[in-house]
Amino acid sequence: MAVIVNRLSPARLLTSGRSALAGAFRQHTSLTTDLIENMDKKETWDRFYRENNVKKDFKNFEWFFGFDSVRDFILPLLRQQPNSATLRHVLDLGCGTSALGPRIYEHSQWPVHVTCADISPVAVQLMQEQAKTKPIQPGNPSSRLAFLELDCCRLQARFGERSLDVIVDKGTTDALLRSSEGRPKAGFVLKQCLGVLRQSGCLLQFSDEDPDARLLWLERESRDQAARVGVLEVGTLRGVCYYCYVITPPGHIDTSTPSLS
Ligand SMILES: C[S@@+](CC[C@H](N)C(=O)[O-])C[C@H]1O[C@@H](n2cnc3c(N)ncnc32)[C@H](O)[C@@H]1O
Repeated sequence: MAVIVNRLSPARLLTSGRSALAGAFRQHTSLTTDLIENMDKKETWDRFYRENNVKKDFKNFEWFFGFDSVRDFILPLLRQQPNSATLRHVLDLGCGTSALGPRIYEHSQWPVHVTCADISPVAVQLMQEQAKTKPIQPGNPSSRLAFLELDCCRLQARFGERSLDVIVDKGTTDALLRSSEGRPKAGFVLKQCLGVLRQSGCLLQFSDEDPDARLLWLERESRDQAARVGVLEVGTLRGVCYYCYVITPPGHIDTSTPSLS
């Protein structure tokens, strides 16, 4: 089942979540403990983003690699469909203060509506302030960029069924799965994602979880929705291999989806 293609240079990967955490918070052991156990909790992330920005000199924080490592997985999906005048709607699920969403907006030559959503109002406010202070030029004049405080358990209530084209999840499902009480929520969020995706849409989960474990979990949790699940390799950093899990709704027909065989 595991299909490995599209290997990128490890030198292009920035750092893994765990080593980023260790580096950034060597002194903050209680926060580190909180993160290890409670990555499904809003309060944990509010604290994380607040303490990461005490110096008030905002820098995007990437849990692991940034846009450049995954651009080739994402940008081809945004190609305008024949006979379609609508913007492709992209959601960065659990965006934190990552530059991923803004850089998709900046680099997509096709018109896109990028929504960066996170449960932490602290992260969302930091992103909004940054976008105001340093406005980003879109790659297409019709593109839009928005930041939204949202619990991703409420995707369907917020967006409605079959309304999104691409959902990118960089480390968010990992965070839920690795929390003491987050596993059921991770399954629920996956179902919500499949509900809001158009038939031609796709969900990309970027993760360091091994395909033996993640593919089984994805297949089990999406069985009722008959989704198709596959995996591509992104690259290796300091001995840690990263993957792009590709989840598509049943009947999906779009040649721009990363190729799985
Ligand atoms: C591991 S971090 C990844 C952040 C970002 N995607 C990145 O690559 O740096 C997980 C993110 O998920 C967010 N999160 C956790 N639970 C969430 C939920 N139920 N709804 C929306 N976001 C959530 C956290 O606030 C945090 O920003």
